[in-house]
Amino acid sequence: MRLNPDIQKKLIETAINARQWAYAPYSHYTVGASVLTASGKVYEGVNIENAAYPTSICAERVAIFKAVSEGEKEFTAIVVATENGGSPCGSCRQVMAEFGLATQVLIIDAGGKIHMESTVEGLLPGAFTPKDLI
Ligand code: THU
Repeated sequence: MRLNPDIQKKLIETAINARQWAYAPYSHYTVGASVLTASGKVYEGVNIENAAYPTSICAERVAIFKAVSEGEKEFTAIVVATENGGSPCGSCRQVMAEFGLATQVLIIDAGGKIHMESTVEGLLPGAFTPKDLI
């Protein structure tokens, strides 16, 4: 289902605006994410790096974890904003898949240009999900 254009605009603006809060002193690659919950709330996240590099976390997971930690588990859309329209990493795709394969994903650049419009299923075909744990 298509996103309402006003909501899509808000999600895009939120993800782009969030990039200013990214903590990326090592890669200098700032990422902002916004998540729309089924209940209509919007959560934002940024990448947060660490001097012990593997401890860093991506923007998408921060946004999703913030939402989940406040009781939200159903997501309608996720927007990821980077300078150049970079694509979500595998770990973030797996975390997205945990909460639904139908969630829409928009990948945008700093100017708001859409580089990819897909779903979690499109980003991670054949995902291992809670249904696989019988
Ligand atoms: N990064 C994200 O925040 N999301 C992604 O999906 C890809 C990568 C971050 C991790 C790291 O802080 C920086 O971008 C460079 O890899």
